[in-house]
Amino acid sequence: MKLLVIGAGGFIGSNLIEHLIEEGEHEVVGVDVTDEKLDGIAGPNFRFVEADITISTDPVDGLVQQTDVVVDLVAYANPSLYVSNPLDVIRLNFFENVKIAEACMRHGKRLFQYSTSEVYGKRSENGTYEEDSSSLVMGPVSKQRWVYASGKQFLERIIHAHGLAGDIEYTIVRPFNFVGPRFDYLVEAGTIGGPRVFAHFMSALLTGGPMFLVDGGEQRRTFTHIKDSNTAFSTLLTAPEAINHVYNIGNPSTDISMRELAALMTEIYEELTGDTYAGDVIEISGEEFYGEGYEDMNRVPPSIAKLQALGWNPARDLRSIFEDTIQHNLDRFEAGLISLKRV
Ligand code: NAD
Ligand code: UGA
Repeated sequence: MKLLVIGAGGFIGSNLIEHLIEEGEHEVVGVDVTDEKLDGIAGPNFRFVEADITISTDPVDGLVQQTDVVVDLVAYANPSLYVSNPLDVIRLNFFENVKIAEACMRHGKRLFQYSTSEVYGKRSENGTYEEDSSSLVMGPVSKQRWVYASGKQFLERIIHAHGLAGDIEYTIVRPFNFVGPRFDYLVEAGTIGGPRVFAHFMSALLTGGPMFLVDGGEQRRTFTHIKDSNTAFSTLLTAPEAINHVYNIGNPSTDISMRELAALMTEIYEELTGDTYAGDVIEISGEEFYGEGYEDMNRVPPSIAKLQALGWNPARDLRSIFEDTIQHNLDRFEAGLISLKRV
């Protein structure tokens, strides 16, 4: 198959490209505004095209025409941006993504759309998140954090409606907190806002700065290793049953609170380095950390029965997910390949 991966230079994109090069089964074109995370990732079946999809749809439209499957990864995916720049999030994550779906329809191409676990919103009524039966419960409009989840939800609904009308073949995936090599970016000690939680805790461990527990750190998440998400992608790409369906990609066995995650990452860091983390663990309110308009949700573990029915299972447990991701950051930091960003 020919695959066009839009947002190829990001965390998920760069890992997916690496996986597809290793598999060697498809011809892959990657599009992004940056290829920084693709440094050292190369293969005869991969080509990178630098393009900003918001400036001109022409090059992307042409590339869509030449491919079989479009993988759409373009989005702002850091909660601090949903609070500080909600309009940018709506423009990119919704309107620009709709244009990609329209290009797929125009040229009769299959769309592989990355949505999010956040579409489920608040805690589920039946204790798990099921793709085809759980309600999607958003917070109030005055909490603009929800623009991300609402935008992704409406994008899903548009794609689904076009699927019903016979306009498009699609697969929608809802990732549950993927982590692994090339995740986000590390920040200077004491930074608030900015990247997602792993990057914050990792930065604190490396700099000795504080770890912030937002709203007491009681919120729970489940984490998925990026390599498990890659095998889920390959499973879905080749399964005819996945056409015009929505799938959770997650690992329900990794359920953990943010307070417990801070402790686990500290323990792993100390084991791997022999150093002691001497920073403070500080409780902070969501509004102080992200700004006014932030609201959190206590996520429950996903049902992955639909993906399991296709033969997929996550292979990595909670500890190995974080051991691998922390080790990757330690190696790069030691090699001088990571600089700490000021947000
Ligand atoms: P990321 O920010 O690392 O990757 C997004 C990529 O899109 C970036 O490389 C960015 O440069 C690119 N991009 C942004 N604007 C662009 C433009 N105008 N033109 C071309 N490229 C542009 O994010 P990620 O974590 O890799 O997430 C990828 C997708 O998966 C997103 O849609 C996100 O919402 C979704 N998702 C990710 C996670 C996760 O755990 N990482 C969880 C749920 C959903
Ligand atoms: C993320 C992002 O919205 C998306 O990337 C993605 O679509 C989705 O979840 C997903 O991965 O499924 P969230 O899990 O809230 O949202 O993002 P994180 O920044 O990783 O925060 C996780 C939790 O840690 C939140 O409760 C947050 O308040 C907390 N946190 C964050 C801290 O306690 N300390 C920090 O330093 C940073």
